[in-house]
Amino acid sequence: MTLAGRRLLIIVGGGIAAYKVLELVRRLRDQGAAVRTVLTAAGAQFVTPLSLQALSENKVYTDLFSLTDESEMGHIRLSREADLVVVAPATADLMARMATGQANDLASTVLLATDKPVLIAPSMNVMMWQHPATQANLATLRQRGVAVVGPAAGDLACGEVGSGRLAEVPEILTAIVSTLTAHHGPKPLAGRHALVTSGPTWEAIDPVRVIANRSSGKQGHAIAAALAAAGARVTLVTGPVAEPDPPGCTVLRIESARDMLAACEAALPADIAICAAAVADWRVANASDQKLKKGSDGAPVLSFVANPDILATLARHAQRPRLVVGFAAETERVVEHAIEKRQRKGCDWILANDVSPGTGVFGGDRTTVHLVTADGVEPWPSALKVEVARRLVDAIAGVFR
Ligand code: C5P
Repeated sequence: MTLAGRRLLIIVGGGIAAYKVLELVRRLRDQGAAVRTVLTAAGAQFVTPLSLQALSENKVYTDLFSLTDESEMGHIRLSREADLVVVAPATADLMARMATGQANDLASTVLLATDKPVLIAPSMNVMMWQHPATQANLATLRQRGVAVVGPAAGDLACGEVGSGRLAEVPEILTAIVSTLTAHHGPKPLAGRHALVTSGPTWEAIDPVRVIANRSSGKQGHAIAAALAAAGARVTLVTGPVAEPDPPGCTVLRIESARDMLAACEAALPADIAICAAAVADWRVANASDQKLKKGSDGAPVLSFVANPDILATLARHAQRPRLVVGFAAETERVVEHAIEKRQRKGCDWILANDVSPGTGVFGGDRTTVHLVTADGVEPWPSALKVEVARRLVDAIAGVFR
């Protein structure tokens, strides 16, 4: 999907990050999108209507009770004549007003009156973001189908550090394209069932302790979201992660590898299986039913037993999905190992990535992968995990065309 000819309504809230929205508007115009903007009173403290008007090459709407605006373009029409409404920065206040359905200024009225998809890019102080009130509002908005991009973690304008930075412009652009595609794009995987594993597994040592790993679930969840956006019915089987549920997917939460396998087998038949989970290779053989105590006989000795290989099991299953895709995370000779792994696991494709320390792949937003298939090896450029997910889904759509 390209942005050319797409109509976007950008609601600019009152946050220090509003200046980044000027760049966003410029990039959208560069790509041929038609942009209208609504500037809240608080937003106007950070960017001027003139800048927005110059960059969007369109009138800027600020006032619910402007006779001129209402006669030219009523607020209801403004809310409907768009393919997508984007709120950036989405402040804690704007999110709260959206969640409670208020309509006390032009922005909130437009958001209440719109019948179009809405994408928000939150930005605020870390404590405001983490406050249960904001998190509850976020959950409400997500549940109503509002798409969310960011916030990112890092230094905040207020001097504190944490989650709350407005997502970067390229990331917001990517989210705009995915949200538009989800609502308006072709549905090449309509009628297909896709099974995705994501996140780590937790293997019990005793009732309170586990062996875990650092997988964030970002890649698997992004793939599930992209498959759903392409029209597939998606079952996402995930270990414990902080990632929010991707919209439009059935999410099954498990802890151990054995539970993940059971959930996957119960979800069959499927047309597509994508194993992106970082499954623990071993579990504790002598896991205790009771919490292990510090005793006089020193540290407990754990013994391990191999976990089932979910990818290999699905690839050799009586109900094998037509396309089975695995991941390879390696720190050396990445492609060579992936080629061998594809054969050993019996899967069709392997997405191989280099997770050497310093690449930041584990837990990070970006990755560089090679697609290994029976036909050869295709290097993909370094990209956001959400972009890798989209590209993978494009390739999958090619198989099911
Ligand atoms: O063997 P390795 O762990 O490197 O293989 C990685 C691939 O296999 C990933 O796709 C992962 O999701 C999958 N896998 C699995 N079950 C396991 C181990 C790995 O599905 N027990």
